[in-house]
Amino acid sequence: MLKFLSAGESHGKCLTGILDGFPAGVKIDTKFINTELARRQSGFGRGGRMNIECDKITLNSGVRKKVSIGSPISFCIRNKDFSINSLREIYDVRPGHADLAGVLKYSMDNARDILERASARETAVRVAAGAFCKLLLSELSISVFSHVECIGNIKADCSKLTLEEIKERQKISPLRCADLNAEKKMAEEIKKASSSGDSLGGCCEIIALNVPVGLGSHTQWDRKLDSAIAQAMMSINAIKCVAIGNGDNSYRLKGSHAHDEIYFSKNNYPRAGGYHRKTNNAGGIEGGISNGEPISVKIFMKPIPTLAKPLNTINIKTHKSAKASKERSDCCAVPSAGIIGESMLSFVLAGEIIKKFGGDSIGEIKNNFNEYVTRLGDR
Ligand SMILES: Cc1cc2nc3c(=O)[nH]c(=O)nc-3n(C[C@H](O)[C@H](O)[C@H](O)COP(=O)(O)O)c2cc1C
Repeated sequence: MLKFLSAGESHGKCLTGILDGFPAGVKIDTKFINTELARRQSGFGRGGRMNIECDKITLNSGVRKKVSIGSPISFCIRNKDFSINSLREIYDVRPGHADLAGVLKYSMDNARDILERASARETAVRVAAGAFCKLLLSELSISVFSHVECIGNIKADCSKLTLEEIKERQKISPLRCADLNAEKKMAEEIKKASSSGDSLGGCCEIIALNVPVGLGSHTQWDRKLDSAIAQAMMSINAIKCVAIGNGDNSYRLKGSHAHDEIYFSKNNYPRAGGYHRKTNNAGGIEGGISNGEPISVKIFMKPIPTLAKPLNTINIKTHKSAKASKERSDCCAVPSAGIIGESMLSFVLAGEIIKKFGGDSIGEIKNNFNEYVTRLGDR
């Protein structure tokens, strides 16, 4: 089984990751992993820290001569603003963060001991682990990308674009938004929020292309692909809602408009045995099993809780009213959340590929995968 574990604090020496159960024989391109780390750090609306960090991975085990060897992969990402012992103490706990619940639960006096780990800095490890998984998926021509659909109340209109067009357009946009008109308005909205000491949330769609039919299972609650994806996405800091396909909208529709009718074309759609749909309301998953259509997941992020114009709170030492502590903070991190979402989806899909096709080596996976696709075509 594929697993990963992260360790490290926001201003500690470094973040550490262990990716266990990764098959042997996958070419590991550290340049690609560093590019993924840079993608997490970029995006209009992020604060000053992103300029300090410029993340780079150091591989410590599990890779020899640029190829995975089947043993646990361990790595670290250095924090360039390492200063954990000299950081100011935090007693004016911030609403919307783990600060207060964390100090009460762990019997600590200083919320710094909580927020250092609760910070989204930890997601750099997820992006590195996700990059390994993307390299594995690319061996089977499966790709994962994301784009920003909403910032605050500004919504992109991608209804006339193909998935390929969305994939290309978001690459050239600083907000990773495929609708360039909406992007301008989003940027304005972020500038306005920032200058008034406020913050913004939003929504991203994460899409996986070329996923075969048959990942996940209907047979047990914890084997369903949609449930694994939902848990992975919900675990990302500040994500408060997850939808598969048109799940955030379909409850409003009649059944006749909410589902995807089935067609057959013998010589096309080999990864789904020739079956296909003209719509994708189900987001590529039915009954907990991938159906061969693109997997589509939406994640909804709450506005960043640390505000330049802070909210009211209580000082946990004095129990007197106070203004919440001000840390250096982003105004809007929705484009970065999309990259973390790509990483989590890649991790879930890589794990499902290993479960279905075997996990010791990429050669074994590819043989089993190809045999499966041939069998689908023979039915
Ligand atoms: C990429 C990313 C960057 C974030 N940056 C900040 C930030 O600069 N300041 C902040 O207060 N919260 C930030 N957050 C949100 C907090 O990490 C999150 O709200 C907090 O951990 C509470 O978790 P919860 O909202 O999931 O309960 C960020 C989240 C993500 C995904």
